[in-house]
Amino acid sequence: MQKILVIGAGHGAGQLLDSLRRAGCEDSLTLVGEESWLPYQRPPLSKKFLSGEMSQERLAFRPEDFYTRHQIDTRLSCRAVALDRDAARVELCTGELLPYDRLAIATGARVRKLAVPGATLDGVHYLRGIDDARRLREDWIDKQEVCVIGGGFIGLEVAASARALGKNVTVVEAMDRLMARAVSPDLSEFFLATHTARGVRVLLNAGVEELLGTEQRVDAVRLTDGREIAAEVVLVGIGVLPNQELAARAGLACDNGILVNEFTQTSDDRIVALGDCTNHPNALLGRRLRLESVHNAVEQARTAAANLMGQKLAYNQPPWFWSDQFEYKLQMVGLSEGFDQVVMRGEPETGKFSLFCFHGDQLLAVESVNSPGDHMVGRKLLAACRYPTHQQAADRDFVLKNLL
Ligand code: FAD
Ligand code: NAI
Repeated sequence: MQKILVIGAGHGAGQLLDSLRRAGCEDSLTLVGEESWLPYQRPPLSKKFLSGEMSQERLAFRPEDFYTRHQIDTRLSCRAVALDRDAARVELCTGELLPYDRLAIATGARVRKLAVPGATLDGVHYLRGIDDARRLREDWIDKQEVCVIGGGFIGLEVAASARALGKNVTVVEAMDRLMARAVSPDLSEFFLATHTARGVRVLLNAGVEELLGTEQRVDAVRLTDGREIAAEVVLVGIGVLPNQELAARAGLACDNGILVNEFTQTSDDRIVALGDCTNHPNALLGRRLRLESVHNAVEQARTAAANLMGQKLAYNQPPWFWSDQFEYKLQMVGLSEGFDQVVMRGEPETGKFSLFCFHGDQLLAVESVNSPGDHMVGRKLLAACRYPTHQQAADRDFVLKNLL
């Protein structure tokens, strides 16, 4: 029996442990996590958990007894501070040394901090974990003016949740469009119109100069053009950074994430890494990338479990994501970066449509709003490299799955 040690107790780690035991792994399993919670799902934190429609129990990846039933030793509220690869052991913040035969690093990502004067005032929040979401929920109960800095996924989902609670919301985005990192301009446009119609004030091309406060508590955001936005609560969602330092200090190859191959293997044979903290090759896309999504964490965890059990299961799928904002479910598959033509299927006015992003004849991505059928077929088309023509994509009477 070998000792498998898992560092980081997030979504990917939860899936890894589950996959290992399901596959009949009888090795000793230890999970080390710096949060005080067993693995849980983060997506509801900016959606139904934040608006109070979902309880904390429902966030859990698996019930507590899963870990006892499967003899998984859990060390929570415990940070791994050093990795000694020669001695094959990990040092915890308590000073304890945990030896391993195989190690899995699933340390995720952390929020990028806003570096302007006033950024540490009370009332300024970030959102990554349960504790952050609880703090924000408690803080804004009796507040009305919410300023969201960053018009990416977190910012827009929080803006929608805050509007659902009747708050006045301003979104301050540095770029000239919303969610620019992940979606095509047409989709940014649709969500700009949606948020504006629901009463969110969206300011694009806007820089934050300073957060202003009284008695250590924020009350306004000053922009670089001199405008001041009233803000009793500020939520900052300006992206994340991979937690790669533990690996990098131990000499593992890192470059915008811990470098892994398609089997989640790092530059050390005994160590796998998975999830937001990794940078992996994707043969379908023909390049390396670092993804920040549940699908990526779950699939890399399955691949890592196979690897730890001596099997080879390559992770090679088109990436997909989702986001819930107001009554719209946005689902994206593939990456639209590099497109030269966008074909519309359906009509945005009906609230149900998909955008097919092409480079020449090659389909790069499908972005669907309230159209799960298009999303599912898009996943299959991209995985099989079967591309509709522009005309077929635009024609709602053309049955796309017939191409498969
Ligand atoms: P994480 O889930 O971040 O887990 C990493 C864990 O490791 C953390 O608990 C961290 O504290 C711990 N850790 C770090 N360093 C150490 C250390 N040295 N020692 C011990 N423990 C350590 N994705 C989607 O696809 N769809 C969504 O709708 C969506 N919504 C989201 C909403 C929110 C509010 C957030 C924050 C994220 C959302 N995501 C969504 C992203 C998704 O949750 C992440 O991609 C996913 O959680 C990544 O899983 P992971 O296991 O790699 O990392
Ligand atoms: P993000 O990268 O999606 O968006 C950050 C936004 O902030 C960008 O639009 C960027 O232009 C803007 N920005 C950066 N600096 C700024 C500044 N100084 N002032 C104003 N705007 C600024 O990151 P986000 O939204 O913080 O999300 C963090 C993580 O959570 C990501 O990993 C994301 O994938 C994940 N997440 C995913 C969701 C999903 O897939 N539905 C939902 C929520 C979060």
